[in-house]
Amino acid sequence: MEGKMIAKSMKMADLVHLNYLLLFVLDRFGIKLGFGDKTILEVCEEYGVDADFFVEVANSFLDEEYVPSSNINTFPAQLAIDYLRNTHNYYLEDKVPEIEGLINQMVTNCKLDRKNVEVLNNFFNVYKQELTDHIKREEDRVFPYVLEIAQAFHSGEISDELYQKMNEYDINDYASEHDNVEQKLYDLKNIIIKYLPPVRNSLLCHKILIELFNLEKDLNDHALLEDKLIVPIIAEQEERLEKLYNRDRQN
Ligand SMILES: [Fe+2]
Ligand SMILES: [Fe+2]
Repeated sequence: MEGKMIAKSMKMADLVHLNYLLLFVLDRFGIKLGFGDKTILEVCEEYGVDADFFVEVANSFLDEEYVPSSNINTFPAQLAIDYLRNTHNYYLEDKVPEIEGLINQMVTNCKLDRKNVEVLNNFFNVYKQELTDHIKREEDRVFPYVLEIAQAFHSGEISDELYQKMNEYDINDYASEHDNVEQKLYDLKNIIIKYLPPVRNSLLCHKILIELFNLEKDLNDHALLEDKLIVPIIAEQEERLEKLYNRDRQN
């Protein structure tokens, strides 16, 4: 499955058969099931989704080594940010509560192991807070900035305010402070795999682990889009805007 590239001419149904985890990607684009034999291109057109961008996202989801790319002139900034925001919502509103529910089930089920399970519970709570802070920072500061840059780039006009903003905090500042929330999940998994004494309900324990593995994979893909797609495109747009600003000032 890994390494297999998808193209716009492929049937959307085949994409789901290729990797069912892509169902989450479809959902974040607002694409619903029931697409019959339509191709990716046809379905994207129906939903008003940029098919090139969709293919980049799907390919990067299928292959972690894949480096997504886009043309700086046609990069659909609003669609990309909407996609990333929908993914954030999925983490905070669906996935985290689901894992919390499983951990709570374990707390009530495993009376004799309560102390150990509570270690896991505390660790997860700390993780949840870190993830929430990470997301809040991106949504409050980084995403609005990305949209502002993209908008200025397309209009070919840059205001003094935006130029100032760019000098105070640019996309490379974001890239260098962008921390790996996905890596911390590795420690969380290890608590269960290596250190927690075996609990009676091993099925529940495995369920939690599988959820953590899936979340980690999803977070990896999410960070890849932020680091390898958004950052280079916006950096290039910033550079052009800066030149434009300086040229306009000279005239
Ligand atoms: Fe994010
Ligand atoms: Fe992030």
